Amino acid sequence: MTLKIDETQVVFSFKVEDNAGGMPEEVLKRIYDPFYTTRDKKIRKVGLGIPFLKTAAEITGGHLDIVSEEGKGTTLSVFFNKSHIDCQPVGDLAGTFFTLITTDKSIHWEIQRIYNGEDYEIDTNKLFENQTDQKLWENPSFLKIIRDSLYEMENAIKD
Ligand SMILES: Nc1ncnc2c1ncn2[C@@H]1O[C@H](COP(=O)(O)OP(=O)(O)O)[C@@H](O)[C@H]1O
Ligand SMILES: [Mg+2]
Repeated sequence: MTLKIDETQVVFSFKVEDNAGGMPEEVLKRIYDPFYTTRDKKIRKVGLGIPFLKTAAEITGGHLDIVSEEGKGTTLSVFFNKSHIDCQPVGDLAGTFFTLITTDKSIHWEIQRIYNGEDYEIDTNKLFENQTDQKLWENPSFLKIIRDSLYEMENAIKD
């Protein structure tokens, strides 16, 4: 999975690309319908992720674009105009990255975070290449080091 977050004084944008197999045409044409989901409805009935994201971006004069290739993957890009009064504030990105990279260790993440042209990158293959010991993931001090360095990098590009 690749995630690129590009933010300036005026724009917040992100692009997320996966190789999870994409979507067939019949799914693709319904993804903007509220409550449309292909998830098992007994487990979780939602289907609001894409409609909410699209609305949140569009009310700021921004947009959401999805390109999906069946059998391959999906790329989703979103743009927000930060100066618009209806733009939601940017949340806790370092905390979000921490959750993303520690929730499912089998996912290879390549994250690029850009703020006013300054950037940092997180590549979970590089980050964890010597961490084959699964017990490490249950070690709070190991997790804390990862979490702290994410906040450090996020704070550093804002100085
Ligand atoms: N990256 C993706 N790859 C494949 N299918 C996707 C992807 N994103 C969304 N979809 C499809 O669009 C549907 C609606 O997405 P969404 O609005 O986020 O709701 P939810 O994730 O709760 O199902 C999903 O159930 C899935 O079928
Ligand atoms: Mg979703």
